[in-house]
Amino acid sequence: MRSNDFQFPRVGVIGGGQLARMMLPAARRLGIRLVVLDPTENAPAAAGADLFLQGDLYDEKALRRLSELVDFLTFEIEHTSTEVLAVLESEGTVIRPSATVLRSIQDKLTQKQLLSHAGLPVPRFATVPEPERLDPVAQGFAYPCVWKTRFGGYDGRGVRMLRNASDCEELRAGAGAGAGAGAATSATASATAAAMLEEAVDIEAEFAVLVARDLTGEVLSYPPLRMRFHDEANVLDVVELPSELDPSELNELCRVAEEAVRVLDGVGLFAVELFLTSGGGVLINEIAPRPHNSGHLTIEACYTDQFEQHLRAVCGLPLGAVAVKTPAVMCNLLGHETAVGAPYLSGAQDALRIPGVNLHWYGKAEVRPGRKMGHITAVAPELDDARERCRAAEALVKVYGSVQEDTQ
Ligand SMILES: Nc1ncnc2c1ncn2[C@@H]1O[C@H](COP(=O)(O)OP(=O)(O)O)[C@@H](O)[C@H]1O
Ligand SMILES: [Mg+2]
Repeated sequence: MRSNDFQFPRVGVIGGGQLARMMLPAARRLGIRLVVLDPTENAPAAAGADLFLQGDLYDEKALRRLSELVDFLTFEIEHTSTEVLAVLESEGTVIRPSATVLRSIQDKLTQKQLLSHAGLPVPRFATVPEPERLDPVAQGFAYPCVWKTRFGGYDGRGVRMLRNASDCEELRAGAGAGAGAGAATSATASATAAAMLEEAVDIEAEFAVLVARDLTGEVLSYPPLRMRFHDEANVLDVVELPSELDPSELNELCRVAEEAVRVLDGVGLFAVELFLTSGGGVLINEIAPRPHNSGHLTIEACYTDQFEQHLRAVCGLPLGAVAVKTPAVMCNLLGHETAVGAPYLSGAQDALRIPGVNLHWYGKAEVRPGRKMGHITAVAPELDDARERCRAAEALVKVYGSVQEDTQ
């Protein structure tokens, strides 16, 4: 095959959630065939995949079978076995990003160590050696500070703001689900989980910079995406593009994010979450080695969306242009606080009447309170109007469940 040719490769995706589902249209456009592995029979990407395998993401047999069917292997979720991936790599499977990259990212502590050893700016952090004796002050932290699980956290689960000694005591006691800012509610977030501490950063604004890195090591970053978080739950509220920041600050965010991806030495699309501090500094919060919730609006807003960009990098194709075609604002559609059972969508007709409003539904079979069920991206020639359209649509659309407990 000449280097200029393209043989319509098969790509295996570990995980069949909404990120894999949104890779499907990009794959189809490019003639790439996607084979998807997920434990759930009716996972969001199952029906549309060229081939769907049902299996556990940590199961060696399932991962091996997936690897045998494809030319390249990638993942849409970090929760898989890097030990198995390393074995498969040693046997010749091409995994992008690599098992080594995934291993350093899976653990928030080793991720921060790697970045800080490379001289990149991160919040001050330390490991928690004895969870039962958690004592931030003895480790040189002042209140407030942040306690995080090292493994498996997402959407703010596993992150807790410790405002004072009694918050710390409450965490040690293993109590406090649902209490206070950033309350950790997942099973992984008990005080006995492997954890780390961070200084509480005085955050002016949060951003994600999507950085693609190709086989030759060339990096290309999208313009920074402004992420606005829900005050209490640490969960993403809306994402905006373009960001209303000075060009020098935008450049600094991109420079730091690109450097972080170079340090990781990964191939694929990475989402670098960054804090702009009230003092004007830039700190890296964390890196996701895959398309990211913050980048969904690139489907409407950019020449090349994040899903196509990821597949291009994984398959060794040239990276696509990242310029912005239109201002856009995205919000997640979360399961209503009492929603359980089969989901149903209320208010979608009225929302879709608003010009520039795009609805993305993930096709999950079951809704739970706060579960990401879909998203809305509103576009308009001006960012303010896109914001307004997104807000109006979000107010109309609700995701309820068939086993509704007490909606009015
Ligand atoms: N050191 C910190 N100081 C202040 N806020 C933080 C800090 N670390 C995390 N947060 C807040 O918690 C959110 C979730 O933390 P993050 O580490 O990104 O966890 P997750 O893996 O759940 O996304 C961040 O987006 C930010 O709003
Ligand atoms: Mg995060």
